Amino acid sequence: VASGLDALEISLKILGCGPGDRVLVSPISAFATALAVVRLGAIPVFVDSDASGSMSLDAAEEVLRARPEIRFMLPVHLYGNSLDLERLERLRDGFGLVVVEDCAQSVLASYRGKPTGSVGQMAATSFYPTKNLGALGDAGAILTGDPEKAKLARAYRDYGKTGEYEHSYIGYNSRLDELQAAIVRRAHLPRLAKWVERRRAIAAAYEAGIRSPHIRICSVAAGSVSSRHLFPATVAPALKRQFMEWLRSRGVGGGEHYPMPLMDQPAMRNVACETMGGCATAREFCRSQVSLPVHPYLSEEQIAYVVDVCNAWDPQSHKEST
Ligand SMILES: Cc1ncc(COP(=O)(O)O)c(C=O)c1O
Repeated sequence: VASGLDALEISLKILGCGPGDRVLVSPISAFATALAVVRLGAIPVFVDSDASGSMSLDAAEEVLRARPEIRFMLPVHLYGNSLDLERLERLRDGFGLVVVEDCAQSVLASYRGKPTGSVGQMAATSFYPTKNLGALGDAGAILTGDPEKAKLARAYRDYGKTGEYEHSYIGYNSRLDELQAAIVRRAHLPRLAKWVERRRAIAAAYEAGIRSPHIRICSVAAGSVSSRHLFPATVAPALKRQFMEWLRSRGVGGGEHYPMPLMDQPAMRNVACETMGGCATAREFCRSQVSLPVHPYLSEEQIAYVVDVCNAWDPQSHKEST
């Protein structure tokens, strides 16, 4: 398909999600995650995050117990960190859920040997250029093990086309551009494993080297093998701007993923959505989160430099302490 957004939307649509349906969504993600739900006329139900920014499956279970009418779930493997897929599977089966996994950041991530994207009836990924497996322009893919759903997805991406000049569904124009497909498949896919290994090595170097008491590195849950799409850390909310500025002044590209939870985005003001329990952890996380560069082409010197810059940050004096 043409993008990760379309992959999410078409997957949800094929699985019967439509106006008024409620969909459990994490409040911390790219806006596309909520947009896919809203564009179908469905209602995002935001459940709180854990301390590492991922959807809290405890919170999700609590909501599902209280709200048996909820049939859909759109979990995100944020930063490339797989959610607990065994637990996700139990939730899917226990509550009869229709699950679409957002794997835009989690290509090659797994949980106890199981790849992300294998629990949902369908899954979606993005080949946006900065993704672990990117094209050179917009692109995305729908993943499913069900040949019937694959057939439907192929029809939906192409005006609902089911035969020569025959259109059986109100579909989309979301074909994957051939040039982008060739770049993903022939040029980038063969290099993917090596790139992800490199991302993991960079993340390990940060974990081993960053010793600042002011910077908390977000942990990856036991059993989860991350694709390390991003490397999130948190600092005290009051110090976030200062830390970002410190990184910038030293030539380190810090990022924010994401500075605002999805339900607080201006576009959501006039849209039906629900925020379960206030999502206080997610809100606090957004105020604290900073991403460190983890691109596979960082050199050893650059990695060591990022570590040094982090360790040299002194929030009291905002001057180098070493
Ligand atoms: C978690 C997540 N979901 C969905 C998307 C949407 O993908 P795209 O930009 O290809 O529409 C992205 C990337 O932007 C993403 O990071």
